[in-house]
Amino acid sequence: MSAPVAEPARRSIEVVAGVIRDARGRILLARRTEGRDLAGRWEFPGGKREPGESPEGALVRELREELGIEAEIGDHVITVPQQYPDKHLSLDVREVRAFSGTARGREGQALVWVPPHKLAAYEMPPADVPVVAALGQP
Ligand code: C5P
Repeated sequence: MSAPVAEPARRSIEVVAGVIRDARGRILLARRTEGRDLAGRWEFPGGKREPGESPEGALVRELREELGIEAEIGDHVITVPQQYPDKHLSLDVREVRAFSGTARGREGQALVWVPPHKLAAYEMPPADVPVVAALGQP
């Protein structure tokens, strides 16, 4: 009988992301910069939840750090479980009800405001793809 093969330990991370709309109803995507995983893909802005943070608190912090905006968090849109080769990710997506300030890529990331019906044309990280359908877009 062969010895059981140990499963490699997989990290599990919780990530929060926001659906940010401008006055024309366009939705903000941010491009992942070189040197990060999934570089070049367009994502709903957000990042990792830190220990002790609520999802809303984490999203407010991430949007302040990455975009320089002060966001008010609204409804839950979808939570996407996603297995990546090196980790399991849970992507918790919320509407941003309102924000103040002008969104800028403070970490060098390109930003684009996209009409909802054009979201599917942007290459996204796998976890973000189901978000487009959850927003009612084909
Ligand atoms: O941005 P950061 O590298 O901290 O994100 C942590 C992980 O979450 C990465 O693996 C990234 O690909 C993933 N992520 C995602 N969709 C987002 C934001 C982050 O899949 N909208």
